[in-house]
Amino acid sequence: MGRVLITGASGLLGRALMQEFQGAAGWEVLGLAYSRAGGSLKKVDLRDQAAVRETVQEFKPNILIHSAAQRRPDVVEKDEEATSALNVEATRTVAQAAVDVGAFLVYMSTDYVFDGKSPPHKVTDPPNPLNKYGISKLAGEKVALEVAKDGAVLRVPILYGPVEAIDESAVTVLFGAVQNTEKTAKMSDYERRYPTHVDDIAAVCRQLAEKRLQDPSLHGVFHWSGDEEMTKYTMSIAMAEVFSLPSSHLVPDKEPSGGAPRPYNAQLDVSRLTDLGIGKTRPFRESIKEVLQPFLKK
Ligand SMILES: NC(=O)c1ccc[n+]([C@@H]2O[C@H](COP(=O)([O-])OP(=O)(O)OC[C@H]3O[C@@H](n4cnc5c(N)ncnc54)[C@H](OP(=O)(O)O)[C@@H]3O)[C@@H](O)[C@H]2O)c1
Repeated sequence: MGRVLITGASGLLGRALMQEFQGAAGWEVLGLAYSRAGGSLKKVDLRDQAAVRETVQEFKPNILIHSAAQRRPDVVEKDEEATSALNVEATRTVAQAAVDVGAFLVYMSTDYVFDGKSPPHKVTDPPNPLNKYGISKLAGEKVALEVAKDGAVLRVPILYGPVEAIDESAVTVLFGAVQNTEKTAKMSDYERRYPTHVDDIAAVCRQLAEKRLQDPSLHGVFHWSGDEEMTKYTMSIAMAEVFSLPSSHLVPDKEPSGGAPRPYNAQLDVSRLTDLGIGKTRPFRESIKEVLQPFLKK
C-alpha cells in the first residue's frame, strides 16, 4: 500500500495510529516520539529542523500523519512560546519535509478551532477559537496547508482510548471522581462534547490515506467525530452505570466551566468523510467500559 510516518507516535492518538497501520496489510510504518521514544519508536525532536528533514528524507513516506502537539492546558495557557514552537513552528518543518519527498500530509487538529456557537460546524465554516490551545492549533492548520497545499487537516473532538494513566485523556480522568463515591463531585453538564475513541480516528486516517493514494486530488479540511452528544456529567453517569457504581455523589453543574473559555457545542459535521465512504464509530458505553476496566478499584 505505502509508507506512513507518524509523529507523536507515543501519544494517546499516535499509539492507536501505529497499531492501525501496523495491523493493516501492505503498510510500512515509522513512528516518531520524543521523551517516550524507544522500542520501535525513533527519537526525533520535531523542533530540530535538520533532524526532521533527515528522518523524512531517509524513510521517504507517501503519507505523513502529524499527530504530535502540545495539548496540556498548563503549558498551553502559560507558555505560548513552547506551545507555538511545537504546534506551529514544528508543523512548518514537518510540512516542508513532507512536501520535499512528495508525501501527503495529514495535520491532526481539533474542534476547539470553533467557537461552538452554530453547530454542527462544517469543514467550510470559518473557525473562531476561544482559547490559546485552539488558537495555536488553528495557526498550525494554516501553516500546514500553506506549506503543503495539497495536504489535509483532520479535526477531531475530545479523545479517549487505552490510556497509560487515567489522567491522560480528558474523558478517562472523570473516572477518578466517579469511583470516589464518598465525595460529592460537581461535574460539568454545560458544554456539549462528542467523545471519540482513538481507534476510530486511526481507522479514519488509514481510510483517508488509502483513498488519497487512489485519488491524488483529495485534500483540504476534514472532520471526524463520535455521534453521541454528552457532557462531562453524562459521561460520568455512563461510567458509573456500566460498572454498576453509585452515582448519587455526582452533581450536574449547569454553569459554563471555569478556566480557559471553551466552545459550548463544537459538534463537527462529518459529512465530507461519510460522503467518501469513510468513517468508523463505536458506541461510548461499551468502549469506555473496556478502556476503564484496568482502573476499576477492587
Ligand atoms: N487528546 C485529545 O482529546 C485531542 C482532541 C482533539 C485533537 N487532538 C489532537 O490530536 C493530536 C494527538 O493528540 P494526543 O492526545 O495523542 O497528544 P498526546 O497524547 O499529548 O501526545 C503528544 C505527542 O507529541 C509528542 N511530542 C511532544 N513534544 C515533542 C517534540 N518536541 N518532538 C517530538 N514529539 C513531541 C509526544 O512525544 P513524547 O511523549 O514521546 O515526548 C507525544 O507522542 C494532537 O495534534 C492534538 O492536538 C487531541
